[in-house]
Amino acid sequence: MDYDLSEKRKVVLGITGSIAAYKAVEVARQLVSYGHEVRCVMTDSAQKFITPLTMQSVTGNKVVSDFWEGGSAEIGHIEIASWADVVVVAPATADFVAKLNAGFAESPLLVICLATKAPILIAPAMNCNMYTNVKTQENIQALRSRGVFFIDPEEGELACGSSGVGRLADPQEIFYATRRLISRADFKGKRVLITAGPTREPIDPVRYISNRSSGKMGVALAREAYRRGAEVTVIHGPLKSELPRSVKSVEIVTAQEMYEQVLAHAFPAGGIGVDVVIMAAAVADFRPKETAPNKIKKSGVLKSIELVKNLDILLALGEKRAKTRNPLLIGFAVETGEIEDLINEARAKLERKHCDLIVGNFAQDAFDLETDRVWLVDRSGKQEEVSTTHKSRIATKILDRVLKL
Ligand SMILES: Cc1cc2nc3c(=O)[nH]c(=O)nc-3n(C[C@H](O)[C@H](O)[C@H](O)COP(=O)(O)O)c2cc1C
Repeated sequence: MDYDLSEKRKVVLGITGSIAAYKAVEVARQLVSYGHEVRCVMTDSAQKFITPLTMQSVTGNKVVSDFWEGGSAEIGHIEIASWADVVVVAPATADFVAKLNAGFAESPLLVICLATKAPILIAPAMNCNMYTNVKTQENIQALRSRGVFFIDPEEGELACGSSGVGRLADPQEIFYATRRLISRADFKGKRVLITAGPTREPIDPVRYISNRSSGKMGVALAREAYRRGAEVTVIHGPLKSELPRSVKSVEIVTAQEMYEQVLAHAFPAGGIGVDVVIMAAAVADFRPKETAPNKIKKSGVLKSIELVKNLDILLALGEKRAKTRNPLLIGFAVETGEIEDLINEARAKLERKHCDLIVGNFAQDAFDLETDRVWLVDRSGKQEEVSTTHKSRIATKILDRVLKL
């Protein structure tokens, strides 16, 4: 569970006659597991691919597939249209997209899409030539211009044997796009820059100095900011969990590369910068003075590695925005001692690096774990402890606090 259950929403999941229909099970499962109520509506063709019983079992709700079944005792398709907070059609066939654009109402799913006032998200899946066909593209464009949301199919091998764009977007991506539509959009219009993961400082072409960071905190922050409507960019080293596809991902290796990318994104020459920077990456403080051009042999005589200090990215950002206090700047502090030391270090860092908020945590609570325990230290002089919980919940708390800064 990764966010406030008061945000539990009502989702209509439409399924049409594509070979990818089985992937709707995973979309439904994800939504249900996050506390949302899901009602499936299936076309006749969809039922040739998966059974209503499967969807009923996953969602706990009876599937709507027939206008005439159930009579007035059942919740009807018009009622479902107004019940929905969002209508997601995954997978959507070329046939369905065409009929929706033309305004047909021959199936319960088409009627619901015509009658609902809720946002509609469509995830097309079809043969690549069907997808790029001018008619399909015209239908998609026309629907987009009327405010229908799309999650584009992926490129790859298709069930029909050909290869190209047409494969249903990953169910996880459909889930991310859905919850962005149903969440409170309190970060809408905000540009958020996040750093995540470790940096790697090369010793030779095969060895490096790094740290235990998994990048999970930064990814959780990116997912949360995206869910709440932000435009998100993540500058990151190697990550152990995935970013949503709609988040801009900038991969780097060394601290120097991260420094350059962060500064360029936060203060672009002549461009518009960002509103918030959250420095969740574990940037290496030192790097080898020299990087050997070839692999250092085991039989060699390497006795020590001379280290030099890396540039301090948080300090550089802080100094650049010290006068304007724009963008908002959030740093992390990791310690291994006592709580008092951590809070003192967080306070000192807040001042020294001109930040608005420092998230203090202990290495043993944080590194490579799904959970963390943090202290939020800001300029008001107060601090708030967030006791051990999933990193996604920590991300929610951090962003809640950012909104109050
Ligand atoms: C095995 C098989 C797989 C199909 N897969 C797709 C598909 O992935 N995308 C698509 O647009 N149509 C696909 N079709 C064609 C649709 O099922 C057909 O256009 C149907 O009328 C769609 O009805 P619906 O949109 O009401 O569900 C497939 C047909 C068959 C027999």
